[in-house]
Amino acid sequence: MAYSIAIERTSAPKTKPEVSRIGFGTIFTDHMFMLDYETGKGWHSPRVVPYQPITLDPAAKVFHYGQTVFEGLKAFKTADGAISLFRPDMNFRRLNRSNDRLSIPPLDEELALAGLKTLIGVDADWIPAEEGTSLYIRPFIIATQPTLGVAPSRNYLFMIILSPVGAYYAEGINPVKIHVESDYVRAVPGGVGNAKTAGNYAAGLKAQEEAPQGYSQVLWLDGVHRKYIEEVGSMNMFFKINGKVVTPALNGSILEGITRDSMIRLLTHWGVPVEQRQISIDEIAEAHRDGTLEEAFGTGTAAVISPVGELHWQGEKLVIGGGKTGELSARLYDTLTGIQRGTEPDPFGWMVRL
Ligand code: COI
Repeated sequence: MAYSIAIERTSAPKTKPEVSRIGFGTIFTDHMFMLDYETGKGWHSPRVVPYQPITLDPAAKVFHYGQTVFEGLKAFKTADGAISLFRPDMNFRRLNRSNDRLSIPPLDEELALAGLKTLIGVDADWIPAEEGTSLYIRPFIIATQPTLGVAPSRNYLFMIILSPVGAYYAEGINPVKIHVESDYVRAVPGGVGNAKTAGNYAAGLKAQEEAPQGYSQVLWLDGVHRKYIEEVGSMNMFFKINGKVVTPALNGSILEGITRDSMIRLLTHWGVPVEQRQISIDEIAEAHRDGTLEEAFGTGTAAVISPVGELHWQGEKLVIGGGKTGELSARLYDTLTGIQRGTEPDPFGWMVRL
């Protein structure tokens, strides 16, 4: 379906940054996409406008009750100079699942994708081409009705902003060290752990702040037994034990990662056995003790494939694979980034050209 998306171009384009300075999520492009929702009228007025601050009533529900969802995906400049998106349909489908959990009205996924493509077309010059870089895309929805009653908002704003990025972690593609959290929990069954909503991230900050120095992120255990591995707020976890890959099963309290799904598909395609099941931290500590814990890595849009070189669990340091990037993690990273940059075949048809 063809959508009519208004475009207002900036009269003051910004200077593009040096690639060495881009980091993660600190620089934004010249334009953004907006779409309004009103009860009775539905989603309306899709438009690309110059990137700018937005004005909201201080009583807007998002500020008080956190009725908001977001997504993260990436666009790439491929080796032949084309622009492509990695599995964008999966992100907009997941956005609608998050919407459902947060009582936000569903979005027309095709319109969202059309809006994104239009926005990227306008800001195409902002996509970095260097290895390890991409254009990070942040779609999000906020509840804007200025009313303090606890009830779903009658008005929403859907926006997409774009940020040229390098690696998410300061370590780059080198292994990260992760603290296994034993006091705080991130989510519980029946909660919002599998929705991409702000509160999950806000609730994780305290543990991240209190983690011992040198540990960039925390690994959450389940909220009931406090022993089963869930996720690291910014990525899903995988372990290679005795030649087999294991990853926590989707249990309603972890995020259904798109990179997670992609890695399971790639590993299966390569004939590497993958188990999706409950994994206790004791099983990991045991596998570390008996020398069968070969590799650990996290997956996420921002994190890509991030090798984990050490887990800090109850004062013990579990060094994995000598603290170095494992062979399988490196192969997954090279294959995924190769598919995204168009230097490797795309057997699953994941890349969507603009
Ligand atoms: C992503 O990987 O895109 C995310 O949304 C995680 C975020 C914490 C950076």
